[in-house]
Amino acid sequence: MENKLPSHVGIIMDGNGRWATARGKERSYGHRAGSDNVDKIVTHAFSRGVKALTLYAFSSENWARPKKEVDELMRLLKIYFKKFIKKVVKNKVRLFVMGDLSVLDAELQKIISEGMEKTKDYGDNVLNIAVNYGGRQEIVHAVNRLLENNLPVTVEGISKNLYTAFIGEPDLIIRTGGELRISNFMLYQGAYSELYFTDVLWPDFDEKQFDLAMEEFSRRNRRYGKV
Ligand code: FPP
Repeated sequence: MENKLPSHVGIIMDGNGRWATARGKERSYGHRAGSDNVDKIVTHAFSRGVKALTLYAFSSENWARPKKEVDELMRLLKIYFKKFIKKVVKNKVRLFVMGDLSVLDAELQKIISEGMEKTKDYGDNVLNIAVNYGGRQEIVHAVNRLLENNLPVTVEGISKNLYTAFIGEPDLIIRTGGELRISNFMLYQGAYSELYFTDVLWPDFDEKQFDLAMEEFSRRNRRYGKV
């Protein structure tokens, strides 16, 4: 069994489209399967001792996808957050949604604020979902907050003004779906994160796959630039 566990894990959930195409279905079918997979991994990660989980659900760049696909992703997010709110008391997981939420439709914004408000006092586990999120945009947002408050722009200052300031930096970032890039995900706070890439497509990324990532993390030697 592994001896080191990541406290905060970020996941780039990639491969829904290819998963659907391989089954002769449209991409939205893959997003629905991907959405069904979210709860399984969230439950498992928390049961394994992970404290915070950040999931990349919709990037600032995803608006460029066909409208039908964007609409389906927004619909799935609404369903997910509504279900989450129903289970709030039982699960005691704090929900946080990071990104520029101001451009989301009013109903989704309302569901998100309700979910965040109802769970804000839960501290043990945090589920952080990135929606209309971009790492570069987040850094700009943090710098602007410092400037608005007449504060100096420093490394610590930026860190404190990132959306994730309250959960800290991810120890491990997992990307499913075979691509070897970060795609604008947690650029600042991911500076020293361990990276784990797998070819497994997100709808197929199950508990066993998650455990493989945990095992690999436990074998890594994190030096943070030191020897
Ligand atoms: C990448 O697959 C995945 C996304 C852009 C969206 C991720 C969304 C979900 C898993 C569902 C909704 C989320 C929640 C939290 C309920 P892709 O479409 O880029 O796949 P491809 O690389 O195979 O084309």
